[in-house]
Amino acid sequence: ELGPYSHFMQKEIHEQPRAIADTIEGVIDAGTFSAELFGDDAADVLAGIEGVQILACGTSYYAGMTARYWIEAIAGLPCSVEIASEYRYRDVVANPKHLIITLSQSGETLDTMEALKYAKSLGQERTLSICNVPESAIPRASRLVCYTRAGAEIGVASTKAFTTQLVALFTLTATLAKLRGRLDEAREAEYLDALRHLPGSVQHALNLEPQITAWSEHFAPKEHALFLGRGVHYPIALEGALKLKEISYIHAEAYPAGELKHGPLALVTDAMPVVVIAPNDSLLEKVKSNMQEVRARGGELFVFTDEESQFGPSEGVHVIRAPRHVGVLSPVIHTIPVQLLAYHVALARGTDVDKPRNLAKSVTVE
Ligand code: F6R
Repeated sequence: ELGPYSHFMQKEIHEQPRAIADTIEGVIDAGTFSAELFGDDAADVLAGIEGVQILACGTSYYAGMTARYWIEAIAGLPCSVEIASEYRYRDVVANPKHLIITLSQSGETLDTMEALKYAKSLGQERTLSICNVPESAIPRASRLVCYTRAGAEIGVASTKAFTTQLVALFTLTATLAKLRGRLDEAREAEYLDALRHLPGSVQHALNLEPQITAWSEHFAPKEHALFLGRGVHYPIALEGALKLKEISYIHAEAYPAGELKHGPLALVTDAMPVVVIAPNDSLLEKVKSNMQEVRARGGELFVFTDEESQFGPSEGVHVIRAPRHVGVLSPVIHTIPVQLLAYHVALARGTDVDKPRNLAKSVTVE
């Protein structure tokens, strides 16, 4: 069942090119972003929406945080993202013109289900769920459904479910942009092309595994780690920190890099490795100056970047490069190294990778 792999988590990390290709098959075959991809009456449900509210837990919540950058920038819709267990217990100001999106790998997470029920009880009738398990509770309670096609995810730590959620959310974003007259033909062709090339680029990122394995010996003896990112890569830093703490039991935190000097910089010493997600985008110069702040305090940097960025390794700065910057879908690519890092650090520490202590795959209790 595991084939050449040692754990389900490793197998599922390596299944991502296929899982992503399967998830985007519908849109690639259609050769266009159309509302029908989300259900027969999707055009009616999505027409005229004025905002988006995303509800989810854990890794799915980080997929939602990533999507917020896309939905606001590309579809021009205000978007909020909230932890389902918080949303369900506060007095929400409902807006029936907002689309409620629930994200759940299992489709059975109690808090997410209850948050959806609560939203509906407030008159929020435009609901869409992105889910990996057909006919599970959350999609059954939603008007529109988009299934990710990651296949069964056995490892408790979510991997391929996250990247397939991201591509489903990107497809939804482009569809919303189109419905709103914000996607011209050239841009549509560009996005379709980016999706088409994505499985290959993910495979290139997976090929970095030997370099990442070599990094794991730096992390294995440590008790703390810090992850930094900015913009659309900040949620990827959060996801990297979550993966590391879940399966290796190393305390890891993520911060938007610009927030360092407002507190967490006080923690930085040579005892705390700092992982930086630093693709060659418009924020790279800012991230570089944040990296200098870390180096000046003796912090050791482990940087994931891509070929185009003009900086190399130096004293206390380790660099791994993805082959090329893939533009708007870059967060998908930069997820791969943080997953592999967590996996190899856990292996080095000898923890139970597929069944971390105290955790369950599907959280159907409060
Ligand atoms: C982390 C992880 C959890 C889940 C969360 C939500 O690796 O697996 O944080 O993401 O419990 O689960 P779903 O997506 O099934 O609602």
